Amino acid sequence: MGLCWSNRIKAESPSHTGFNSKSVSKDGFGIGSVSSSKFSSSSIPITPRSEDEILESSKLKSFSFSELKTATRNFRPDSVLGEGGFGSVFKGWIDEQTLTATKPGTGIIIAVKRLNQEGFQGHKEWLTEINYLGQLYHPNLVKLIGYCLEDDHRLLVYEYMPKGSMENHLFRRGSHFQPLSWSVRMTVALSAARGLAFLHNAESQVIYRDFKTSNILLDSNYNAKLSDFGLARDGPTGDKSHVSTRVMGTRGYAAPEYLATGHLTAKSDVYSFGVVFLEMLSGLRAIDKNRPSGQHNLVEWAKPYLNNNRRIFHVLDARLQGQYSISRAQKAANLALECLAVEPKCRPSMDEVVATLEQLQDAGGKDNNANGHGQAKSCRSSINDGPRPTTYPRPSNSPLFA
Ligand SMILES: Nc1ncnc2c1ncn2[C@@H]1O[C@H](COP(=O)(O)OP(=O)(O)OP(=O)(O)O)[C@@H](O)[C@H]1O
Ligand SMILES: [Mg+2]
Repeated sequence: MGLCWSNRIKAESPSHTGFNSKSVSKDGFGIGSVSSSKFSSSSIPITPRSEDEILESSKLKSFSFSELKTATRNFRPDSVLGEGGFGSVFKGWIDEQTLTATKPGTGIIIAVKRLNQEGFQGHKEWLTEINYLGQLYHPNLVKLIGYCLEDDHRLLVYEYMPKGSMENHLFRRGSHFQPLSWSVRMTVALSAARGLAFLHNAESQVIYRDFKTSNILLDSNYNAKLSDFGLARDGPTGDKSHVSTRVMGTRGYAAPEYLATGHLTAKSDVYSFGVVFLEMLSGLRAIDKNRPSGQHNLVEWAKPYLNNNRRIFHVLDARLQGQYSISRAQKAANLALECLAVEPKCRPSMDEVVATLEQLQDAGGKDNNANGHGQAKSCRSSINDGPRPTTYPRPSNSPLFA
């Protein structure tokens, strides 16, 4: 979560509605029932809810600021787990039963995120996080334990994820971060995909809108859990095809049609998944101005290589050599390409992504379906970036990246 304005995208769309912090508008807060999956919570009111309703109805613990001060040893700098646009994240300790602060090293470890930014948008994201994570439960979503709202203090208390974020493992260099193997990368991709599929399949669909490697947290077995629901939105209802929103997200991950129109669908998350999957396959960041010109935007540079079975090795992380079969590499590259299709309808659903990644784990990609999910011919050109019915500006040409 957070408001890292250097990377975050934010622009008004014509349909954006106003917001009042006490009686919360529909914009971002009207979550409906999510009881379709066995992991989901019990029924959730469909109507938009006020701040008090959101806080009272969640089963989260309300921590006092002094409790969290004790749990984190007064927010000591050496207990910082990471920094984001929202603020710093600290390591702390609480008793597993009573959830009260304990001595460091006893009880369970927690991660405490402390909002350090004044203002309305930070509060809105803080509340949205509580609204969603207070009600959605799944093995691939990080568990929110509680929150603190006291004077100007806004904090969130999560389960501690021992291996930190996928971003650190993929891009940090140094003895602490060894390159992740092919099979670990596939495990992370599959478990993160399951988290997104759960959100999309909920009876009242949730669009995550901020899928990126820093929001994928890892447990000790490299199972991924999605964190940061501050930008999440309810999906379209009734006969609506999309929700109209402000364009928000993180540079390099947002789908082209969303950037161009503000129209948000679950397929926007699928595109972001494609970007992240490509980062996992290549070991390269979605955007990196330090790369040679023509390679700053990973998707634009890599796409032509992905649809050529003999050239995909230009894109694959050299540190993975010898760990995968050619058929696996082809299948993985093809999955990334499908998710990155220009036409949203040509992208697979997250259920299809999960199924393909499961096959990749089991069968080594030798089976059929290596050339897509049976998309019509019209989709092939969209996936392969050839002539296509709709054109959107290349993400790097969007004024939002100015
Ligand atoms: N529950 C957790 N357990 C362990 N480490 C965590 C946890 N939550 C966050 N972190 C660490 O803190 C870092 C900062 O997280 P945060 O969500 O605030 O920002 P971010 O995702 O890096 O950036 P952004 O603000 O753009 O979302 C993460 O990258 C991760 O390393
Ligand atoms: Mg984050």
